[in-house]
Amino acid sequence: MNIEQEITHRAASIEERIHPYMPTEPGLQQTVIDAMDYSVFAGGKRLRPMLMEASYRMFGGTEDTVEPFMAAIEMIHTYSLVHDDLPAMDNDEYRRGKKTTHAKYGEAMAILAGDALLNRAYETVAQAMLAHPEDSRLMRAFAILAEKAGIYGMVGGQTVDVESEKKGQEIGREKLDFIYRLKTGALLEASLVIGAVLAGASEEEAGRMEQAGTKLGLAFQIKDDILDVTSTMEVLGKPIGSDTRNEKSTYVTFEGLEQAQKDVKALSEEAVSILDGVSGEHDFLRELFLYLIGREK
Ligand code: IPE
Ligand code: IPE
Ligand code: MG
Ligand code: MG
Ligand code: MG
Repeated sequence: MNIEQEITHRAASIEERIHPYMPTEPGLQQTVIDAMDYSVFAGGKRLRPMLMEASYRMFGGTEDTVEPFMAAIEMIHTYSLVHDDLPAMDNDEYRRGKKTTHAKYGEAMAILAGDALLNRAYETVAQAMLAHPEDSRLMRAFAILAEKAGIYGMVGGQTVDVESEKKGQEIGREKLDFIYRLKTGALLEASLVIGAVLAGASEEEAGRMEQAGTKLGLAFQIKDDILDVTSTMEVLGKPIGSDTRNEKSTYVTFEGLEQAQKDVKALSEEAVSILDGVSGEHDFLRELFLYLIGREK
């Protein structure tokens, strides 16, 4: 398998399949619909839906019930980025190679587009549940999605992240790990667990997938911090130096670049070994985890 080609191919297919879940009916609220579209179809890596679908297949899922959840998690992730970029948060001007939503549509519309994406995610999942009232897996998956996006998940992590700005090493490694596990890890955990649950994996298997997601999430955010220092705006599609400008304490400010990269590798390998301990074909997932160690964007 050529992993890079496979990732590109899957991302394109995901994008096509997410499209029908976005709002299409025109109305006086067109501006917010345009801003939602602009934010989602700006060319992200589509990592979360990719992980979810691969996990679903790993546990033998063959239906398309995973699709509304793939769309929903990408909507929630995109909303988190739109709000993360706002002047009140990281104040960034570029994202996914284009102007950020607030830079293009104004702050009020970016706030609303984020709100609307989060809501649309739940509308999408609600429709799927109504279409399959007999399938309790959908309800479990919904509960996981909602929890991992909320105060004990992404929003919780972003809260402590924002509160920790300009505090230097004062915040301590423990708090930093908490922030990463929640702000970034939670949605990656959700992706892997929801795929598993929808395919009918056992509690124990779902738990292992969550653990793999935790490790992967830490590795992914540390790599994001590294790239904020070492990459370029052209490659990354978002400004570099954002963390320094905001006086963020990051894994890199704690451990230095070299150790950070070592830890990305170690954590990713731990994630792979957790995965290897679960039965089910997962060659693509394994390759994807390892590919992300050296990702350039
Ligand atoms: C960026 O996520 C925010 C983090 C959690 C580090 P991605 O790097 O997955 O962003 P896109 O979706 O590819 O734009
Ligand atoms: C954000 O972390 C994680 C989110 C939940 C959006 P960052 O603030 O480091 O993400 P980027 O670098 O702006 O993508
Ligand atoms: Mg941020
Ligand atoms: Mg940011
Ligand atoms: Mg970052």
